[in-house]
Amino acid sequence: MKTCRTIASLRRALAAPIPGKGRVGFVPTMGYLHEGHLSLVRASRRENDLTVVSIYVNPSQFGPGEDLGRYPRDPRHDASQLRREGVDILFMPADAEMYPPGFRTWVDVTGLDGKLCGSSRPGHFRGVTTVVLKLFMLLKPQRAYFGQKDAQQARIIAQMIRDLNLPVRLRVLPIVRDADGLALSSRNVLLSVEERRAALALPKALRRARALIEAGERDSRALRAAMMAEISRQPLLAIDYIAVVRLEDLEETARVEPGNTLVAAAVRAGRTRLIDNTLSGEIEC
Ligand code: PAJ
Repeated sequence: MKTCRTIASLRRALAAPIPGKGRVGFVPTMGYLHEGHLSLVRASRRENDLTVVSIYVNPSQFGPGEDLGRYPRDPRHDASQLRREGVDILFMPADAEMYPPGFRTWVDVTGLDGKLCGSSRPGHFRGVTTVVLKLFMLLKPQRAYFGQKDAQQARIIAQMIRDLNLPVRLRVLPIVRDADGLALSSRNVLLSVEERRAALALPKALRRARALIEAGERDSRALRAAMMAEISRQPLLAIDYIAVVRLEDLEETARVEPGNTLVAAAVRAGRTRLIDNTLSGEIEC
């Protein structure tokens, strides 16, 4: 595995033609890797000739007072995991590489970026789309791998790819969970033992919503109420949002439309924000 810390060295690594390594798969991450990230890496390895992973804790997607400073990092362990998975190139740029002095260009996917997580994290998705577009331009992947865990992010990236005619195919992979149901997240290590236990109400609420939908419930209010009942039983959790939205525009919908509905929730456990969702439909571009 070649590790590149500068754009110049990344360009050199990608310019050297590697026989039979034409199709490039790309997995963008912020590191502190877990099985969710590795599921994306494995899919990329299966479907491409060359796999590039980026590890970059992108400051522009963190708001003031968010957890940029606390965000967990372990680049050496990450690199050893990626080496074991057979990744070809690891790109780990410094902030000065990605946002040199005088940086001024931002990408806004209007309308989708202010909903759900965007309403409590203004500017977050602008940071995400800007850094992802920069990474796409640098790496020129044929396929890019994202997790359904961040369904709104995947939906917004799909929109950006469509609107800007980017020659990249988006692949969205299922949420990987711990044995107890909690969606894997780099932020889970920030939870205390009690917060972690309380956080299980989040996947439980989503399982309940899914079961209700499968049993024929179509009323969004009923779904939200059932999830609310589950989560509000935990005094350590503060609800950020519980939403039933159409996949195409992320607008609240009164009735579940099978094949076009995202049920998503975000909670705070102490200073840590957790998200989870269940999806009926496909995020495509
Ligand atoms: P990060 O949170 O590190 O996540 C990187 C990718 O892993 C995202 O596509 C995310 O959805 C996926 N992922 C995280 N947890 C997962 C899980 N439990 N199961 C499946 N996939 C999971 O998302 C980001 O970084 C950043 O916003 C980034 C896209 C890198 C831009 O900075």
